[in-house]
Order: sequence, then structure tokens, then C-alpha cells
Amino acid sequence: MKVRILSCGILLFSTALIAETTDQFTIGQQKAKVCMTCHGADGISTTDPYPNLRGQRASYFISALKDYKSRERTSGLAILMQQQADALTDQDMKDIAYYYSMLGTKKNKNESTK
Ligand code: HEC
Repeated sequence: MKVRILSCGILLFSTALIAETTDQFTIGQQKAKVCMTCHGADGISTTDPYPNLRGQRASYFISALKDYKSRERTSGLAILMQQQADALTDQDMKDIAYYYSMLGTKKNKNESTK
């Protein structure tokens, strides 16, 4: 009986670990819904002044968002992004950056939009 409880615990623990590592893409995708209006459903924008985000490097992506939030980035249409960045926590930025950095790469197997 003791053994069964123990192995059950190990099973739960390991599936939780797997879910955490593979799910950041899905979490990021959920959080990025609002971004898709301007940056396109697949990270390729359909309107000229809006940049593409697909495949963007995560560290650059996060630094850009932080610059909008701190108002260090003010040129052009930055005002649109300042409002967007205000609504994001550091964790949101990481998750969304992960999503876009993996979008369109071979490493990402969860992608539905090809
Ligand atoms: C209302 C339209 C709009 C929405 C919604 C929007 N963006 Fe943007 N985004 C822009 C525009 C316009 C720019 C270019 C701004 C500039 O000139 O700096 C931009 C720029 C960016 C950049 C910098 C790209 C680069 O190459 O430097 C990132 C990163 C970004 N957006 C992420 C996001 C994320 C994440 C969201 C969702 C939380 C989002 N955007 C929602 C319009 C939008």
C-alpha cells in the first residue's frame, strides 16, 4: 500500500514537470491573443507600420517591452506599445517572448498555424 502511494506521487510529480516545460508556448500563446490584433495571428503583421514578431529573439523581445513600459522607447508608434506593455508583468513578457521566439522554429512541435 505504501509503495503504491509513493509511485503515484512520483507519477504526478513527473507529469507536472513535463507540463511546465512544454506549456510555456501554450501559456504565451494565450497571453499573446491581444497582440495578434496588430502583429498578426502567426506573428506576421498584415499592416505596414506594425512589425513582425515571429521568430524574434526572446531577450530582445523582453528588452523592447521593458523599454516601452519605462518610456525609453518613444519614437514612431511607440505610444501604442507603451499601453500594451503597461498591462504586462515580467512573467507575461517572458511567456510571450518565449512563444514568439519559438513560433516558426523546428524546435516547436506545438505550433498549429503553419
Ligand atoms: C494597437 C496595435 C498593437 C498591439 C495590440 C500590440 N502591438 Fe506591439 N507594436 C505595435 C507597433 C505599432 C509597434 C512599433 C512601435 C514603434 O515604433 O516602436 C510595435 C512593436 C512591438 C515590439 C518591438 C518590435 C521590434 O522589432 O522592435 C514588440 C516586442 C511588441 N510590439 C510586442 C507586442 C506584444 C507582446 C503585444 C501584446 C501584449 C503587442 N505588441 C500588442 C502595435 C501593437
